[in-house]
Amino acid sequence: MPLRHNTRMPTVLGIETSCDETGVAIFDTERGAIVAERLYSQIELHAQHGGVVPELASRDHVKKLAPLIEQTLADAGLPRTDAIAYTAGPGLLGALLVGAGVAVGLGNAWGVPVIPVHHMEGHLLAPLLGGDAPAQNLQFPFVALLVSGGHTLLVLVRGLGDYAVLGESRDDAVGEAFDKTAKLLGLGYPGGPAVAKLALGGDPERFRLPRPMTDRPGLEFSFSGLKTAVYTLHQKHPDAAADIAIAFELAVVETLLIKCRRALEQTDCDTLVVAGGVAANQRLREGLNGLPGTRVLFPPPALCTDNGAMIAHVGGLRLADGVCPATDMAARARWPLDTLQAPVTSAP
Ligand code: KG4
Ligand code: ZN
Repeated sequence: MPLRHNTRMPTVLGIETSCDETGVAIFDTERGAIVAERLYSQIELHAQHGGVVPELASRDHVKKLAPLIEQTLADAGLPRTDAIAYTAGPGLLGALLVGAGVAVGLGNAWGVPVIPVHHMEGHLLAPLLGGDAPAQNLQFPFVALLVSGGHTLLVLVRGLGDYAVLGESRDDAVGEAFDKTAKLLGLGYPGGPAVAKLALGGDPERFRLPRPMTDRPGLEFSFSGLKTAVYTLHQKHPDAAADIAIAFELAVVETLLIKCRRALEQTDCDTLVVAGGVAANQRLREGLNGLPGTRVLFPPPALCTDNGAMIAHVGGLRLADGVCPATDMAARARWPLDTLQAPVTSAP
């Protein structure tokens, strides 16, 4: 079926299924706002296994995605949208394929463009959707810190689709380190909020854990050693979980602060955008807000974790910038952020 030639591209349906959240949202490109949004979290499903089970995640997306799309369209009072954006990677391949298959199928049925979106691009442009950083106030270039369960990245954002990765984790992602620490301390999944909550009652002076890779130049991270340090400490002091939790949280936050300060100096940027699930961490927010001479922008908490709104939003930006959508179904478990192309109209 030929694509509808619509010079106006008012609405984009966004589909997110890269991990354990089924997210659906509709972005109105004329209003620059999300008009309907639904999210289903699989946390309960995976909690009993202590972490995300990829096969269970895919099956649950299959069950939940179509009804969520129907409900979101009904919420917006629309029979369909003018384009569809979906997370094409990185993420769990089976889970990604569910979203990609549904997006391409619907796109064909409706005769509308289908846009594959990079999950991390969704996160790093999410602050443009609201909260601290209305679109008109955020100017390129800026530095973005992406901290989630699967990624720890410092990125120089020169423009839409124009990203340079300044540093990333060599091993565990920050969120993963929180999740593993939670497991070691006998807390539930997801670990980040559980460790943060426990840390509130801890003694910050009792233990000091290392700030990995801060004593050498560069913007790379490594968090797997910290997890081992937590393990050793917990073996020695099994009744000191809260004190260990705060020692871990302080070590992570200070490490991120040091690297962010370095990245801002190195790129001569004065704006830092923080995104990804770990951006919900209160202690990290407070620490980053204290960076001198830096404007620090966080998306609202609901936009920090995985959601369909950030995907619909990137789809809308790419359409507005005249990007020719791909027609093939795409799903990539690994997808380096700096291989994305800047739209032709934004090229220098
Ligand atoms: O971005 P996200 O929702 O999913 C991924 O793409 O990974 O991030 C989830 C991660 C989990 O590892 C979770 O433990 C962590 O974000 N997280 C937190 C907090 N809330 C969520 N970590 C630290 N403190 C929090 N308050
Ligand atoms: Zn994410």
